[in-house]
Amino acid sequence: MRVSVFGAGYVGLVTGACFAELGHDVVVRDVIEAKVDALRAGVVPIHEPGLDEILARNAERLTFTTDVGEAVAGAEVVYIAVGTPPTYSGDADLSDVWTVVDELPEVAHRIVLAMKSTVPVGTGRAVRHKLDDRGLQNVGYVSNPEFTAEGTAVRDFMQPDRVVIGAFDDADADVVASLHDGIRARIVRTDVASAEMVKLASNAFLMTRVSFINEIANVCEATGADVVAVAEAVGLDHRLGSHFLRAGIGYGGSCFPKDSLALKQLAANSGYNFQLLNAVIEVNELQKRRVIGKLERRLGPLRGKRIALLGLAFKPGTDDMREAPSLVLAGRLLSEGADVKAWDPVADGAAHFHGVEIAETALDALDGADAAVVVTEWPELREVDWAAARERMRGNVIVDGRNHLDPEALRALGFTYEGIGRPIL
Ligand SMILES: NC(=O)c1ccc[n+]([C@@H]2O[C@H](COP(=O)([O-])OP(=O)(O)OC[C@H]3O[C@@H](n4cnc5c(N)ncnc54)[C@H](O)[C@@H]3O)[C@@H](O)[C@H]2O)c1
Repeated sequence: MRVSVFGAGYVGLVTGACFAELGHDVVVRDVIEAKVDALRAGVVPIHEPGLDEILARNAERLTFTTDVGEAVAGAEVVYIAVGTPPTYSGDADLSDVWTVVDELPEVAHRIVLAMKSTVPVGTGRAVRHKLDDRGLQNVGYVSNPEFTAEGTAVRDFMQPDRVVIGAFDDADADVVASLHDGIRARIVRTDVASAEMVKLASNAFLMTRVSFINEIANVCEATGADVVAVAEAVGLDHRLGSHFLRAGIGYGGSCFPKDSLALKQLAANSGYNFQLLNAVIEVNELQKRRVIGKLERRLGPLRGKRIALLGLAFKPGTDDMREAPSLVLAGRLLSEGADVKAWDPVADGAAHFHGVEIAETALDALDGADAAVVVTEWPELREVDWAAARERMRGNVIVDGRNHLDPEALRALGFTYEGIGRPIL
């Protein structure tokens, strides 16, 4: 089939590349000319494991353009994968979505407009009305939300837990379902509003698990239990499972924070106070800041103290800095008067932090530091020569915000190690 994807971001590129891998002809359209030029030249503008390879392997089935007409010509399915960031009010900003709907040209044959962007419940209904107002009755509409996680997006797309398709018209759902031939996954068909809610509810549930285990971690800290042992045993209960039970300094990223706000706001706009979600969001905000208290207890006032931030991206495997906890942490440290030096293997620290020195290597970041904070659990951090780090640091404090490093090994090297929700020695 011929597929068009609007938006060459984290979702659009993976969607386009994976549909090409399944044998479809794909045109990816973006409004940023430099991005399209780079993609045409074989340069992938984001860090996503496996994406470069899959784009290169399917180059003859993939075209990139800024031109709407070229993107839509001959397409049977047009995907919307543009950003839906939060507005000041917390609602999702759908202006890029509406631009695509407005730009859609009249088409001679029936096409299906498929929504991959995460949107509030009711968006599909509003888009349907808009299409009808424009006389585009031969444009069908489905909600086909995306569940991939950055860092594993290609694998997640090709081996999803489920493909959700919400449609007004069964024939449109059939078209989108057949696009996924070759992917072994349960196809879940729903109405449009329910498909939209599946995405928001899934993310909210994952966030709830994160905030839940973080609160358990905080109580563990206060009572002498070890959240790592607790989470492992809790996760063995088949009714609960082990995913998203890793205590740490909170979630970030381009999806969880904005989608939780959008769901909270969606509920509020409908007259409902989503209390549990409010708590999940608040716990996460407080969790990011707990590191400051841990550092102060070890070092005293942070003015003039040198702090190394290890990892900046919101999670390993991506260069995405959107809503990364490192941003809050660095901001708090700077406002306390600390000197901050940071390292990340892929994220562009210089572009996101002012007043923070960016180091080439983790060891360089640790040079002269009073304390190190593990912010992102990059595997590289386990390979650091921590004995050498101990020599190069001015102090010996490690706050492991992801419970990523080996406490025993570090304590044996003379470090004062503190994790999240673990016994404090
Ligand atoms: N990032 C993820 O892992 C993820 C996962 C699931 C769902 N989502 C959702 O998918 C959507 C896209 O997220 P993303 O992270 O890929 O965003 P992104 O910001 O990385 O990419 C969006 C792209 O759309 C382009 N764009 C804007 N207006 C356009 C237009 N009129 N025509 C064509 N392109 C246009 C932008 O230039 C940008 O390149 C969001 O709604 C997000 O919530 C994201």
